[in-house]
Amino acid sequence: VQQASQAAHDQTSGGDGRSGSRELLVDLHGIPRGRLAAELERSLRAAVRSGRLRRGARLPSTRTLAADLGVSRSVVVQAYEQLGAEGYLTTRPGAVARVSDIAPAPARADPAGGAARCGPGAGSPAATVEVDLRPGSPNLSSLPRGEWATAVRRALATMTDAELGYGDSRGLPRLREALADYLGRVRGAIVDPDRLVVVNGFAQGLVVVVRVLRERGATAVGVEDPGSIHITTHLAAQGVDIRPVPVDDEGVDVGRLEPRAGPPPVAVLVTPAHQFPTGAVLSPARRLRLVEWAERHDALVIEDDYDAEYRYDHQAVGALQGVAPDRVVLGGSVSKTLAPGLRLGWLAVPAALADDTARHKAAIDLMAPVLEQAALAELITSGSYERHIRRSRAVYKRRRDLAVEVIADRLPDAEVRGASAGLHLVVMTPSVDEEGAVERAAARLGVGVVGLGRHRHSPGPPGFVLGYGHLTDDQLRRALRRFAAAVGDVRSGRRS
Ligand SMILES: Cc1ncc(COP(=O)(O)O)c(C=O)c1O
Repeated sequence: VQQASQAAHDQTSGGDGRSGSRELLVDLHGIPRGRLAAELERSLRAAVRSGRLRRGARLPSTRTLAADLGVSRSVVVQAYEQLGAEGYLTTRPGAVARVSDIAPAPARADPAGGAARCGPGAGSPAATVEVDLRPGSPNLSSLPRGEWATAVRRALATMTDAELGYGDSRGLPRLREALADYLGRVRGAIVDPDRLVVVNGFAQGLVVVVRVLRERGATAVGVEDPGSIHITTHLAAQGVDIRPVPVDDEGVDVGRLEPRAGPPPVAVLVTPAHQFPTGAVLSPARRLRLVEWAERHDALVIEDDYDAEYRYDHQAVGALQGVAPDRVVLGGSVSKTLAPGLRLGWLAVPAALADDTARHKAAIDLMAPVLEQAALAELITSGSYERHIRRSRAVYKRRRDLAVEVIADRLPDAEVRGASAGLHLVVMTPSVDEEGAVERAAARLGVGVVGLGRHRHSPGPPGFVLGYGHLTDDQLRRALRRFAAAVGDVRSGRRS
């Protein structure tokens, strides 16, 4: 028996002495030393989410698992601790670690906890979180409910019987006209209502575009690195290969779209107006080069315009689509302007993709719900939508100023980046070399924070992505002070 198990062990062992745990289906072979704990965390999280590890399931002791994987015990201890702080595991000194009762259930049983969920709380229940600095949500309490109710009433009163039937999969003509007009005026986009498809948020829009591309033989899509892990996960779930492209202060580094080996991707997903998560704005030179790259390779740029309405210090940057409407798919939604739960978004597509896009939208769910579409058309044409955005922009700008002020006061050696737009900013913390330790320390203080590393495909300097739009001034101040305290705790722990 011993020989057989040694043989099995030898088979799974790599040249680095690391191997796999058959029991947990974790394999750390080939993972660089500095990423072992993060990779183990990721694997265990995935095992819980997929249902392979059920609530209450017992995990191997840290010593056993470390021996099984051929890593030091501290790697396993660190991973268990992190998953404990996130609410996935219950860990107590001397007791066996178990999958906690509040761990996310498998996607089948917990539709709200899907891998692609964005926003505070995404992917981590962190039961102890009192105030959440994780980004992704607008201020939900500022949804203009009265104006929305008026728009719904008007929509109901004016909708024809025919409009209540199965209609055009691209969406209600009156909404497409209102959106084409709005996107042209406010985002500088060139939109023909016939080439606009109303979708259930950008997330669904991405699925539709990828299906169109796959049908045409595409196998790989470029994504920004760092880039939204939720959106990337969602994209990968559609069966395309992900090709990370580095991002710097000027946005995505277009020169790196050409791989050293193999063919370049046929499409690249970018956030030009306010890069997620770094907050960089794609520079004019890079915008030009990106369009040239797409022309040269007959490729497509997918523009995620997710929070472009909020720009505080400079004139808004127009959508890239306005420069190259035949090369760029412009995707947007009301998730950051009204509420993500409305699930209303749009795709403005090049003429050559218009029919296929409409067909794939129909194949998924026939069309978006008509009453909400009609209500949004009302809100836009009445001017309420833009008034609401103007009001919100002023509130968010004040919160942004407050956030910058508190960070400067409490973390003088930190650098704030990407704060000129959007609903989140990035704090680079050179004095902290382990983001996970700060996440855990913040969780102990009741604050949810997320390290930049979670959105990275390759290693980079430490930092945190902090959402401020959804918090009141008081909550924001409290959360940031506690975050600063968590950074301080980790720093002084390191010194001692
Ligand atoms: C970068 C990015 N794009 C888009 C979205 C929004 O997608 P949706 O319109 O489906 O709500 C999110 C979610 O927060 C996001 O982080």
